[in-house]
Amino acid sequence: MKIFISGVSSGIGLALAKKYLDQGADVYGLSRRPCPDSRVKWICCDLKDLDSIKGSLNELLSHNANIDLAILNAGVLGTIQDLSAAKLEELKAMIDINLWANKELIDYICGERTCSQVITLSSGAAVNGNRGWSGYSLSKAALNMMTSLYSKEFQNTHFCAFAPGLVDTAMQDQLCSITETDNFTSLQRIQNARGTENMPTADELADKLPNIFKKLLEYTSGSFIDIRKMN
Ligand SMILES: NC(=O)c1ccc[n+]([C@@H]2O[C@H](COP(=O)([O-])OP(=O)(O)OC[C@H]3O[C@@H](n4cnc5c(N)ncnc54)[C@H](OP(=O)(O)O)[C@@H]3O)[C@@H](O)[C@H]2O)c1
Repeated sequence: MKIFISGVSSGIGLALAKKYLDQGADVYGLSRRPCPDSRVKWICCDLKDLDSIKGSLNELLSHNANIDLAILNAGVLGTIQDLSAAKLEELKAMIDINLWANKELIDYICGERTCSQVITLSSGAAVNGNRGWSGYSLSKAALNMMTSLYSKEFQNTHFCAFAPGLVDTAMQDQLCSITETDNFTSLQRIQNARGTENMPTADELADKLPNIFKKLLEYTSGSFIDIRKMN
C-alpha cells in the first residue's frame, strides 16, 4: 500500500505515518521540519510556497504512478481572535496553507497520478462557528466544500473531509496556553478535556484511524465526517 501524508513532522501526521509503516505500507510525506521516522520517504516542502508544491511532489513521487491513500493533514491554527481583529495578511497566509495548498496537492495526486482515496483533515470548527476561531474556521469550512467539489471531478477517487476530534498535539499546546477565555468560551471546554479520554494522544488516535479510514469509504464521496458522530 502506498500512502502520502502531508505534515509528517509531528502530531497526527507523524503518528499515522508510524502506524501505517508498522503495518507494512510505503509512506511518503512532506513537512518543513524533517520527519523523525527515517522509514518515511520524506521531502522538505513549505506549503506556504504554493508554486513549489508540484515540483516537490514530482521529486517525491517520481516512480509512483498510483497512490492508494492520500491524507492531507498539514494545517495551522493561526491566532484565536475575533475575525474583526484579524489582519487580512495573516488570514490569507493561513488559507494558503489550509486550503490552497490542498488544491495543489489534489490536482497533482489525482490529476497527474491516480489515487483511490483522499482524506482532508478538517475540524468541528468548520461548522461550529465559535467566536475566536475566525480564519481557522473559514479555512476548514472552505476545505470541506473543496473536498465535496473535487469528489464530482475525480470520480474514481473517494473523498472525505474528516474531523478527528480533540487530539493532544502541538495544536493543543497552543490552544491550552491561552489564558484569556472569557470571550472565547469554547476554549474552556477544550482546556478541560486535556488529559482526559476526550482528548487522546496522536498515537492513541492513530491506532484506530486505519480502520476508521476504511469505514469512510461507506459514506458518499465528498462528505464531511466528524469522528464523534460516527457509529
Ligand atoms: N489536534 C487537534 O485537536 C485537531 C482537531 C481538529 C483538526 N485537527 C487538524 O489535524 C491536522 C494535524 O494537526 P495536529 O494537531 O497534528 O498539529 P501539529 O502537531 O501542529 O502538526 C501539523 C503538521 O502540519 C505541518 N505543517 C504546518 N504548516 C506547514 C507548512 N507551511 N508546510 C508544510 N507542512 C506544514 C507541520 O509540519 P512543519 O511544522 O514541520 O512544517 C506538522 O507536521 C491539522 O490539519 C489540524 O487542523 C487537529
